[in-house]
Amino acid sequence: MRSLIDVLDLSTGEIDELIATACDIIENPAKYSEACHGKKLATLFFEPSTRTRLSFEAAMYELGGHVMSVSSGASSSAAKGESVADTAKTVSCYADIIAMRHPKEGAPYVAAKNASIPVINAGDGGHNHPTQTLTDLLTIYREKGHFENLTIGFCGDLKFGRTVHSLISAMSRYAGVKFVLISPEELKVPSYVKSESIKKKGIPYVQTEELMDVIGDLDILYMTRVQRERFFNEEDYLRLKDSYVLDPKKLEKAKKDLCIMHPLPRVNEISIAVDDDPRACYFKQVLNGKYIRMALILKLLKEAGTL
Ligand code: NCD
Repeated sequence: MRSLIDVLDLSTGEIDELIATACDIIENPAKYSEACHGKKLATLFFEPSTRTRLSFEAAMYELGGHVMSVSSGASSSAAKGESVADTAKTVSCYADIIAMRHPKEGAPYVAAKNASIPVINAGDGGHNHPTQTLTDLLTIYREKGHFENLTIGFCGDLKFGRTVHSLISAMSRYAGVKFVLISPEELKVPSYVKSESIKKKGIPYVQTEELMDVIGDLDILYMTRVQRERFFNEEDYLRLKDSYVLDPKKLEKAKKDLCIMHPLPRVNEISIAVDDDPRACYFKQVLNGKYIRMALILKLLKEAGTL
């Protein structure tokens, strides 16, 4: 059974196909409005979410399907001690496809091993977030037209930010890409991400604490929030939370065609005055997230033989 646990589960060719489908959905939504007629998506979210859960649900509705939702661990049998494996077996009896978010790294993988329907990782702890990456890739494609030869700056919490880990891993497959890793010392990219997705592939990268030293070099600036819920103590969070605040003044030094991205939610790291800048792409990202998830649901249901 084909699931999506890690973005590298998809070849670059498959990513191109998903992007082509998403673009076709954007152009011809009516063609897809009954594509999943009678099919059911279960969203199992054991961690907070606004965009990811609602975009999955909107995606399924726009494909003519139905949605069942667990929107917090406290409201499901997980609170009684049920294992992820048993939950996955149970939900397989009711739904055709699962999107799961979980605070434990690897939980969606365990679900996929036990489910008899496709499982999509909608974020597992501080590890991965492949569908945010598909969203980011569709955004980069629509803004830049290609993935090659881009200099991408990741700024903020690169340690706990799962969207950063997945996007680095996805972008590491394209020629001519350079990474600029901007974070406080304590929030640097984990060594496994650096060795697997950057060093092993010989990708040029710069690591710095100073956004202003590098902002003018970037084609894409991917801002992230400091991930409060993954800190061991509140003092560290309070000390680090406002490490970077992007504002119009700082953007004066940036390229005219910079693409400013953020998976959202934003806390303080992008001032709202930036929202009116034509380079701000983060709300376009939100919309792209629905279209690429529609494409992904279609692909996985077709491969499962459900459609
Ligand atoms: C991200 C996440 O959940 O990892 N949000 C999202 O899915 N769009 C980023 C974050 O929470 O900071």
